[in-house]
Amino acid sequence: MKKTKLKTILKKIFLKYGLSNSHSSICSNALINAELVGAYGHGLSRLKMYCDRIKKKLINPKPKIKIKNISSSIVHIDANNSIGFVAADIGIKKAIQCAKKTGIGLVAIKNSGHYGLSGYYAEKAVKKNLITMIYTNAPPAIPPHGGLKSLFGTNPICFGSPTNSKIPFILDTSISKINRGKIRVAARNNKKIPAGVALDKNGKPTTNAKKALEGVQLPIAGYRGSGLAWMVDILSGVLTGGNHAGRVKDPFDDFSGPQNIGHLIITFKSNLFAKNFKKRIKDNIKTIKRIPKIKGTKKILYPGENKFSRFKKNSNKDILINKNIYSDIKSLLKN
Ligand SMILES: NC(=O)c1ccc[n+]([C@@H]2O[C@H](COP(=O)([O-])OP(=O)(O)OC[C@H]3O[C@@H](n4cnc5c(N)ncnc54)[C@H](O)[C@@H]3O)[C@@H](O)[C@H]2O)c1
Repeated sequence: MKKTKLKTILKKIFLKYGLSNSHSSICSNALINAELVGAYGHGLSRLKMYCDRIKKKLINPKPKIKIKNISSSIVHIDANNSIGFVAADIGIKKAIQCAKKTGIGLVAIKNSGHYGLSGYYAEKAVKKNLITMIYTNAPPAIPPHGGLKSLFGTNPICFGSPTNSKIPFILDTSISKINRGKIRVAARNNKKIPAGVALDKNGKPTTNAKKALEGVQLPIAGYRGSGLAWMVDILSGVLTGGNHAGRVKDPFDDFSGPQNIGHLIITFKSNLFAKNFKKRIKDNIKTIKRIPKIKGTKKILYPGENKFSRFKKNSNKDILINKNIYSDIKSLLKN
């Protein structure tokens, strides 16, 4: 389907579910971007979930978002259970504004929901020549080290930096071995997941996506990964006023209340200390890329380069919509 046609359809659905014109646009753009970068677990596969939660009054389609300026660099946002895309859009704009004015912006957001890809927001700040760090918590997927109960989300860690080229450095990684969205897509399409990424509810390794969703996902790098997931829970949950310690609701199957996810955004100018950042990053990337490579590796890529080329390639093509999603879209337009 053409991007423009898809955007019109998505906007129509969000408008029908009570979002304003500008909020419908923000959500549609974020979903289309996820498809274009190949992050299918965070794109159209979640459309029905957002609409179901709006219908059950767990996402507020007309939020009264409160923005509290704590100082000219620090902002606290109460998103009033808005859809996460809208809260994050306001958050990153505020963080950019603060950093442009004072050198640094620190924005904490509470009462938000799933916002998709951290890197999507980081890119907006990096395009303004700012270094950016973004954290969000997510529904329980990962246990603390040694535990058999999921408490932490896949809690992505995102770091963005301007480079010497138009391709930004965006390290945007979940703390789980694989993304929960990918497991959901596999469960929905009756596909297996790779070995070694999840345990079933009894603690046994599984490649069955449905059993993995009932059990626990494994973190990257053992106790180091679960430590990082815990860190993100503190920064985006405890610090912001959002839910934490396993209390973020799973958007797909826990309808007992809003998610109250928290996000933390930090942005700052890249030339705060050394004035020639652009020259220094150019040298950094060039030096690192030049090293000898292991067999089978043609080129060292920096984080974000692969996503950028996927985006570029997919931008010239129609968006493929699988039959499950197509039928979601059809029924959302009807109901
Ligand atoms: N909102 C949420 O609750 C939530 C939760 C989890 C993940 N996410 C999002 O899902 C997305 C995907 O996460 P993921 O962990 O599956 O990402 P991933 O494993 O695809 O990539 C992780 C990072 O590694 C980099 N990378 C990949 N291949 C590389 C290579 N060959 N050389 C150098 N760098 C390379 C990527 O550019 C990226 O920065 C992220 O955008 C994340 O924000 C969101």
